[in-house]
Amino acid sequence: MRTTATQLSEEITGLGLERFVLELESDGLTIVPPEVTGVTPELLDRCTEVLCRRFEEMTGCPITVEGGPLGELEWPTEAAGKNHFDDNERPPPATQMIIQQILQLDRCFRDLAVNPVADALIGHLMGPSDFLGAATGGSARRLSSSNSFLKWQGDYGYGSGLGLHCDQGLNPLPWGRTALTANATWCLTDYTLEGGALAYVPGSHRSNGHPVQPRAAEKAVPAEAPRGSVIVFPGTTWHGAFPKKTPGLRLCAVPYYRHIAVLPQENTRITLRDTPWEDCADPKRMRELIGFDDMFPYLEQNQSVPRLAATG
Ligand SMILES: [Fe+2]
Repeated sequence: MRTTATQLSEEITGLGLERFVLELESDGLTIVPPEVTGVTPELLDRCTEVLCRRFEEMTGCPITVEGGPLGELEWPTEAAGKNHFDDNERPPPATQMIIQQILQLDRCFRDLAVNPVADALIGHLMGPSDFLGAATGGSARRLSSSNSFLKWQGDYGYGSGLGLHCDQGLNPLPWGRTALTANATWCLTDYTLEGGALAYVPGSHRSNGHPVQPRAAEKAVPAEAPRGSVIVFPGTTWHGAFPKKTPGLRLCAVPYYRHIAVLPQENTRITLRDTPWEDCADPKRMRELIGFDDMFPYLEQNQSVPRLAATG
């Protein structure tokens, strides 16, 4: 029986993903090309189109992949626009926006979330769940949220520290060997250093702690990847982003995961309940990812109640 997250699952060996697991173990991040995940150009185009249209609905500003937003954007108030990674007091210019709850937007994002290759790697990071038979058994990984980062030319206020952080930083130290959160960043545009790629520190996941600056930023490298790649990393890896110096958009779709014992960012069991979540390539896998059958958190008494026995 598999007892730790460091042993290879049948999914990993069956899909031939050993070299990506090795990168996850040694560098704390791996980049899987579209030839391995099987993601098609049509699916990537659909994701791109839906996100651009959604951006226009939300902001009122037209946008193209080549040109980025076709007008200047500003945050509604200082408080709303203030990013906690910012080095200074003033809100940064609006050069990035996060569209949340993308699983609800279109089937294309649900298909990415149930991609068997990305899911096997996330499953490797989080291992099996044996608690009370896992509530449902199987893997401990669950969805935490789903987001898209739309980023265009500018500094976005990350500053010299590159916004380096650990995604599982809300969880108290010490952390163990099992990832408490994990990230699958699907690149919908090429990721390059000049184009504002994800920044990360290779091997930083082994520190099992928060970034130490300025050394962390000095050791950060770009996660450069062609469109269609998926960048997978655990919540322990120090990461942030480089400034985008080129015109146009850097675009991604990010299913974000949690260990079954960790609080989700979005309460997907509620927010996805009345959406067409089954409309995807693998409804069974999606059901488990959302956690519909999990024992916790419950909404009503779910333990048996003894009753006064009939006498006489
Ligand atoms: Fe992050």
